[in-house]
This record gives sequence, C-alpha cells and structure tokens, in this order.
Amino acid sequence: MNKIKTWIAPALLVVIFTISCNTNSKKKDAIKLSTIEIAKKETDSIGAQLFNQKCMICHNHVGKVDSTMLAPPFFQVKDRYLRASMDKEDFIETMTNWVKNPSEDNLLMRGTLDHFEVMPYLAYSDEDIAKIVNYVYNNDMERPEWFDAHQESHQKEGRGMGNGQGRGQGNRR
Ligand code: HEC
Repeated sequence: MNKIKTWIAPALLVVIFTISCNTNSKKKDAIKLSTIEIAKKETDSIGAQLFNQKCMICHNHVGKVDSTMLAPPFFQVKDRYLRASMDKEDFIETMTNWVKNPSEDNLLMRGTLDHFEVMPYLAYSDEDIAKIVNYVYNNDMERPEWFDAHQESHQKEGRGMGNGQGRGQGNRR
C-alpha cells in the first residue's frame, strides 16, 4: 500500500508536466496565428478607415431610411455584387471598375435610380480603392434594421431598392 503511495506523486508530476508542455506548444501556435490575424487586421483597418472616410459619407444609413439618405446601404451593394461575381477576384475587379467609372451604362443596381442619382466619379487613388474593395469583400457590412420591412413594402409594389422584382437586376437595358 505504501509503495503505491510513493509512486503516485512522481506519476502525477509526469502527468502535470506533459499537460503543461502541451499547452505551451498550443500557446506558440496561438501566437503564430494571432500574428497573421494582426497583419490581416491591420490591412483591414486601413481599408475600414478609408471606407468610412471616402464611401460612408454617402453610403451611410444612420440607422433609418429617409430622404436624407444619399446612397443605398453598403451591405445591399455588397450583396448585389456578390451575386454578380464568380469569385473574389471578379468581385474586386467589378467594384473597382465601378468606382473608377460610375455611369448609368455599367450600374448593376438599376432600381436604386428610383431613389438616387448615379454615383458621382470620385478621384481616389488606385491603391485606396484596392484597399477599400478588399476590406468590403473580407468583412460583413452592417444591415440596417429598417431594411427588411422597407424591402418588403417595396416588393409589394413590385419594385425593390435595386434587388427587388420589377425594375430588376442585372445589366438589362
Ligand atoms: C457622393 C456620394 C457617394 C460616395 C462618396 C460614394 N458613393 Fe457609391 N453610390 C452613390 C449612389 C447615389 C449610388 C446609387 C446609384 C448608383 O448605383 O449609381 C451608389 C452606388 C454604388 C455602388 C453600386 C453601383 C451599381 O452597380 O449599381 C457601388 C459598388 C458603390 N456605390 C461603391 C462605392 C464605393 C466603394 C465608394 C467609396 C470609394 C462609394 N461608393 C462612395 C453615392 C456615393
């Protein structure tokens, strides 16, 4: 009986040692991973800053739908572009082309013209546009609370804010 007791302490030590080694190597992995995450977060945070400065001045929905809105909420824009593009590259190319050359000829969200003028040309650098569009692709855009009810009431009338039936989608002209 006593013999067993003398073995228990070292055995426990071995177990504790093994567990702590394991968590240590897990910690190292976690540190590696978080460095990658930080790098991505930094690029994204520059993108976010540019997006807020340069796009949200108009695409800001300030929590409600009303006549002071200057542009469609961006989650809706993103949604439309996701549906129109095959992959990330295509998404980025299409949106970049739009920002560089917004015109009635190449807009996707035809229904938005019921509410807004065509987006003006903005002389932003290629680099800034690339950062913004990457940020948009990589991150969820905020969906305003009023949006679903608004969309439903429009769809009853047969037109949505760009995504609905009626004044439809796509490149039809
Ligand atoms: C001066 C106001 C204004 C600013 C600033 C602005 N937009 Fe817009 N944007 C609009 C309006 C209005 C529409 C809706 C009418 C249209 O589609 O042209 C729109 C529509 C869009 C669309 C949908 C176009 C389509 O295919 O129908 C995209 C994409 C877009 N904006 C991206 C951006 C990005 C990215 C930025 C920042 C670099 C930006 N906008 C800044 C006013 C603005």
